[in-house]
Amino acid sequence: VARLPEDVRTRAAALLAALPHTGRPGELHTLPRPGGRPWRLLLVGVGQGDEEGWRCAGAELARAGHPEGELTVGLPADADPATVRGLAEGLWLGGYRFRLPRGAAAEPSADPSGLRRVTLLVGDPDRHAEALAQARATAAATLLARDLTNLPADRKPPAALARRVAAAARGVAAAVTVRDVDWLAARGFGGLLAVGAAAAQPPCLVELAWRPRGARTHVALVGKGITFDTGGLSIKPVAGMRLMRKDMAGAAAVAAATIAAAELRLPVRVTALLPLAENAVGGSAFRPGDVIRHYGGLTSETTNSDAEGRLVLADALAYADRRLRPDLLVDLATLTGANAVALGKGTAALYSDNDGLADALRRAGAAAGERLWRMPLPTDYLAYLSSDVADLYSAPEQGAGSVTAALYLREFTGARRDRWAHVDMSAPSWADRADGVLAQGATGWGVRTLVRWLIDVASADGPRPPPPARPAPRRRISRA
Ligand code: BES
Ligand code: MN
Ligand code: ZN
Repeated sequence: VARLPEDVRTRAAALLAALPHTGRPGELHTLPRPGGRPWRLLLVGVGQGDEEGWRCAGAELARAGHPEGELTVGLPADADPATVRGLAEGLWLGGYRFRLPRGAAAEPSADPSGLRRVTLLVGDPDRHAEALAQARATAAATLLARDLTNLPADRKPPAALARRVAAAARGVAAAVTVRDVDWLAARGFGGLLAVGAAAAQPPCLVELAWRPRGARTHVALVGKGITFDTGGLSIKPVAGMRLMRKDMAGAAAVAAATIAAAELRLPVRVTALLPLAENAVGGSAFRPGDVIRHYGGLTSETTNSDAEGRLVLADALAYADRRLRPDLLVDLATLTGANAVALGKGTAALYSDNDGLADALRRAGAAAGERLWRMPLPTDYLAYLSSDVADLYSAPEQGAGSVTAALYLREFTGARRDRWAHVDMSAPSWADRADGVLAQGATGWGVRTLVRWLIDVASADGPRPPPPARPAPRRRISRA
């Protein structure tokens, strides 16, 4: 589509012939002042030309540095919507770098590359409008999740994090409800109250709801929201505590994905539950050996106060099951270090007794560029969770830490047991260095998988509702 002048094509071909190049996704070569013209020609690899190849290409293009402020990308004339979606997502995600907001407001982190406008040259722009809208909503939500997760813990105690989520949801038609400690205490949220007991700022529960008219399926998303995890009295060593501001990455991901669903007006009902608490050290901290009564009545013997995530998730899962009664229940959590031991940095552990749900999530992740690996829920390991004084032992020592945590959570899913999936995303929630679409730091992991999956759920349910009367506001992302 780009129709480069003949002399420029000749020089580009000569450059590639002279260089060792493989065309791997994101491989970038520059031809300065092609044909004496005052611009640069960037040649970028897209690998096999699949969505992920284009996503990586977009990320490298965004990172390349653009003193000119503008970039025009010529796509193949027959480029399909997945190509445009991948490229656009990569462009938006690749340029991200976290900047500390100055005020209390949720100011978006800006793109450091200097890129202000990107023009995509395609054969038929109308054909790509939906893909572009999906890319924009997904990227905006991913950057929101990254911003919230990168934020230092002193800027996001539970109530402040709830306010930031509410501020981010303001532009879309999603309703935000924040439940305070009194509400939680009156209803017996013993896990969330115990974990948050030692912190200077109390825990809370955020409910974020997108309720489109005519939706057939109700999805509940639960995200672990520990704003800082010291380990509690079972305190973490220095190295293990350093990055524990990221322990609310699951909550950030489910909130951001719900906002994206609302922005895209997907015809699927989504309720996100964010149990938010700081796991601190202090005289009012819960102790190893304490017995906690969760929402719904099950009890836990809290063997290790560093196994706090499952305690707050237990309440939220039971609440989702009993009060929201969703068709599908999915939780995301930075739950165990064992996730990385089993699967390494780049892969989340996926647990479900529902093959269809597990496969749908895994496939959505693969299409969106996030990897999930199905893990077993062996019934005989349940023996590790048996306690003499409570219904469950919260942190067994027998190993398989990510697996036993999932088995523990399953006990709280009640009637949703066969419609539930758990994702342990401790490992992929953080990137030690920039790589592909990831910047160093929080990755926003899970947003892309969830948004893609919600799109799939919505399209399986039938036609989309009429578009909104006025276009959705342009939040956060202003360029392109
Ligand atoms: N938040 C941590 C898990 C974690 C570790 C997330 C590293 C990301 C990176 C969680 O609360 C925790 O401390 N888990 C314990 C569980 C154990 C006490 C049963 C763990 O993994 O060691
Ligand atoms: Mn912990
Ligand atoms: Zn934790």
